[in-house]
Order: sequence, then C-alpha cells, then structure tokens
Amino acid sequence: MSSPPYLATRLRGFGPTVFAEMSALAEATGAINLGQGFPDEDGPVEVSEAAVAAIRAGVNQYPPGPGTADLRQAVAEHQQRFYNVSLDPEREVLVTAGATEAITAAVLALCEPGDEVLCFEPFYDSYSAAIALAGGVRRTVVLQPPDWSFDPDRLARAVTPRTRLLLFNSPHNPTGKVFSDDELAAIASVCIERDLLVVTDEVYEHLVFDGQHRPLSTLPGMAERTVTVSSAGKTFSFTGWKIGWATGPAELVAAVRTVKQFLTYVNGAPFQPAVAAGLRLPDSYFASAAWSLREKRDRLCAGLVAAGFVVHVPAATYFVMADTGRLGYLDGAALCRQMPLKCGVVGVPAAAFYSDPDAPTPLVRFAFCKRPEVLDEAARRLADLGSPSHP
Ligand SMILES: Cc1ncc(COP(=O)(O)O)c(C=O)c1O
Repeated sequence: MSSPPYLATRLRGFGPTVFAEMSALAEATGAINLGQGFPDEDGPVEVSEAAVAAIRAGVNQYPPGPGTADLRQAVAEHQQRFYNVSLDPEREVLVTAGATEAITAAVLALCEPGDEVLCFEPFYDSYSAAIALAGGVRRTVVLQPPDWSFDPDRLARAVTPRTRLLLFNSPHNPTGKVFSDDELAAIASVCIERDLLVVTDEVYEHLVFDGQHRPLSTLPGMAERTVTVSSAGKTFSFTGWKIGWATGPAELVAAVRTVKQFLTYVNGAPFQPAVAAGLRLPDSYFASAAWSLREKRDRLCAGLVAAGFVVHVPAATYFVMADTGRLGYLDGAALCRQMPLKCGVVGVPAAAFYSDPDAPTPLVRFAFCKRPEVLDEAARRLADLGSPSHP
C-alpha cells in the first residue's frame, strides 16, 4: 500500500490542531480555558428559542442546498442594513456550514492546483489547510507588531503571475486588528491592478471596539471580484451551530456552491430560521454585544498587564495577543504546554498562526469571551507565572 495519505500530508501534521490540543489540556487539568475562542455564555434567548421552536415545528430534514430562502433574505437585509450592499438573495447568497466551510469551498472553487494564494501572516489556521487541500501555494505578508501594520510595497511584490487569490481577514484573528480605510485602499489597489480574486473572512464584523469595520467588497472595483464570508457563531455566541454564509457576485457564489454541495450538501436546518431571527435583531443588540465584550477586553488586558505581560490591545475580535518575553519566557508554545500545570490557565501559542509553527515567538493568544469572574480568576492565576515560586 502506498503511504502516507496524499492529501493529509499537505496539512500540518496528522494530529489535532493546537486549539484542540490546548482544549484537551484544559479539560485534563481543570485549567481555565482561554485558548480556543468560544464564549462561556449563550447568546440571545430569542435566537435560541427560535431554534427550539423550529425543532419542535419539525424543521429537521435537509434544508434547500443554498440555504433556506428566509435566511438568505435575512443575510441580504443584514448586508444592506450595515454596509449598504444590495444582494440578490437567490443568486448572491449561499448558506454554509460555518465560515470554515465557506472559506474552504471558496478556495477549492476558485483556485487551480499550483495557484498562489496570498494572505497576511499571522493567519487563522484553516487558511493554510484550505490552500493545501486545493493544491495551492501560500504566500504571506507579515503583519508587524505593535500595530500589526504591513508594507504596501511588500504586498505588491508578493504578487506573482501565479497569484490567483487574496484570502483576507478583517477584523483579524489572532491580532484583533481592524484594517484601516487607507490599508484597505492599498490592498484593493493591488487586487485590482493584478486582477486578483478575493475571499474576505469577516466573522468578527460585529465585535469591534475601536475603529469601524468596512467590508473590502465595498471599495470601488472590489465587489465584482470578492466573495465575502461571515457566520453566526461569533456575532450571536452560538459557535457550535456552524451557520455561515458567502456572498458576492452570482458567478463566484455559484462556484462556491458547486463545491459546498459535495462537502456537506446542507447543514443545520433548525438553526437557519434561528440565525435569520438573529440577523434581524435591532441595532441595539449588535452594539451591546460589542460593548460587553469591550469591557471584557479591558478587564483581561488590565489583568495581563498587572501579571507582567506586554499586551497588544486588540481593536476587535475576542482575542488578545500577549508577549511573555518580559516574564522571562521566550517560547510561547513551550510556555502554553506548561501553563495549565504551572498556573491553571490555557492560552494558544501565537506560533500556530504563522507559516513556521516551530519558530519560537513569545506571543500567546488569550480569549476574553468569558464571564468577568472567570477573567479575574485567570488574571490572578497568571500573576503567579512571574512569581519566584514558579520558575
Ligand atoms: C478568523 C476566523 N475565521 C473563521 C472562523 C470559523 O468560523 P465558523 O465557526 O463560523 O466556521 C473563526 C473561528 O474561530 C475565525 O477566527
């Protein structure tokens, strides 16, 4: 038998992702899990009640392939309400199994083997897997702390005749950066000049504290080349429901749908009407979700600073990058594996978001989408890391 399995060899190793590894560590040790990004409280009750009602009403069989008409309509209304983007829900909206499926299906649909896909680094871990599955070649432009800026010339130089696609994420995980209008304009000009297709991942679109999220597709010349991806998980705190969507020009959305139908076919029938209800919540819901998370950000950041970390305060998302160098730890990955036993807290090594996950970096990503008392207790425990009794 030939070995090893061909597609899997293109992915990073064969084991669980570092997120799964850290969550398992948290479970095994009873440590506070600030690793994987999921809230410890449910989202709006009207949304969960809508899912319960749908199950009771018998919405339990395969939904339509592109998603229910009502959810596609709700996605179109949402894009109009928040971004003044008009979409035809029939042809320009596709419901997917979370943003993850939308991203993977889009990369598979739009790239030929050997095509180069450009992204900023650090990047969300599923990007490299999606590119590898498509037989693509990842090219990256590194975002530099403390403000995670990039050199536009370097971006332009990273594009080659083989570059097909920009896979872009704003608000950005893991840095919490919201790309500014000037940065978006610089990115758009490269995409237009070099005729790139674009997939934008905007799952944190409503979790913004400083600045404003602007979809890349709204810049002149971008709508026709961009597939915009988002999902309900972060906005409504139901990460386990896995309802996402892809929107954009009919031709690109049709290409994504063609792949999606052979990945999952359909998903989450009773969650689709619930997410439609969520997307129709008043503006006050979206504003208050960001406000309450902002308080949590400030709480954890203050705790991390008091514990001796150097913190890169995020403008959005529910993650903060903290530098452990001043505490004497230069390898965040090694520290993350020891932290549950050293102090009873789990974080994720930022190395997991870089091209070379083995290159040591003192950065650790912590999630702050947790109850205030959990964040306070985590900060109290993390303060022990710098104490002499925990060398
Ligand atoms: C940047 C980014 N994109 C996509 C996802 C996945 O979204 P979903 O759960 O809707 O698949 C996540 C989840 O953490 C993320 O951080």
